[in-house]
Amino acid sequence: MQVVRADYRSPELSTALTYRYGRQETEQLKQRLDDHGFAVAAMPDDVEPHTAVERLAATLGLGQPYIASLYQREDTKEHGAAYTDVRSQASSDHPAFGTTAGQSMHVDGLLEPIGTVRTTVLYCVRPALSGGRTVLFNSTAAFEELRRRDPQAAGPLLDPGVLRRRSTLPNVDADHVGPAFAYREDGLLITRYAEGDTVEWRAPDGRSADLERALAFLRAAGEDKRYSVALRLEARQVLVFRNDVVSHGREAYRDDPAAPRHLIRTLYLETPR
Ligand SMILES: [Fe+2]
Repeated sequence: MQVVRADYRSPELSTALTYRYGRQETEQLKQRLDDHGFAVAAMPDDVEPHTAVERLAATLGLGQPYIASLYQREDTKEHGAAYTDVRSQASSDHPAFGTTAGQSMHVDGLLEPIGTVRTTVLYCVRPALSGGRTVLFNSTAAFEELRRRDPQAAGPLLDPGVLRRRSTLPNVDADHVGPAFAYREDGLLITRYAEGDTVEWRAPDGRSADLERALAFLRAAGEDKRYSVALRLEARQVLVFRNDVVSHGREAYRDDPAAPRHLIRTLYLETPR
């Protein structure tokens, strides 16, 4: 897989593939992941959510779910689980999982080096009353476009000191500094492009203006329908995406208190094989 060049305006992208773990469906799902960086599938309604995700991961060859290093710490363990329940709870103090607010563009694995968490799976147990769409941003394709048009601006995004992300969990002091984009040894362009509260940009010496142009370009691209799509997951639909190739975010939502939005999230170090 190289940079995903698909135009995200194509309606095929948000159409869920009916998935029953068959060989042909699995090939289709992998193809969509390769073509678009993500795929949506409608899972069987007689399989319990955790089992559905476990079987899907096994079929795709994703290995065991990975617990992000932010949640491997003694002081954050309460938030960490291989199967993370994403839902709003009045009592929650998690800045992202526990609220109905929108989430800025980011990649999963805040403290991991670029390209570590390669695949994310989001299984929808119950959608929100309204809102809550997951936004996918083909940040690597946008970066390539920037590099073609204005290589001087693109340069700082590859700098190993350019992007600091830090935990916004209360009383948790943890961060990671690295490039926003990088080329792997096999040539694949990977991303940890993010915006919002967890992010601090640090321009290399003398490159502030270049970095500003780069960020203005990426922020505009994030609103451009060629690069960005918002998906509403229905119950029993699953979204699989290449966390090392695309960035993602979430729109704010409104809950029915009796039946709140509920997603299950798992992370993997592997890509489908
Ligand atoms: Fe996320």
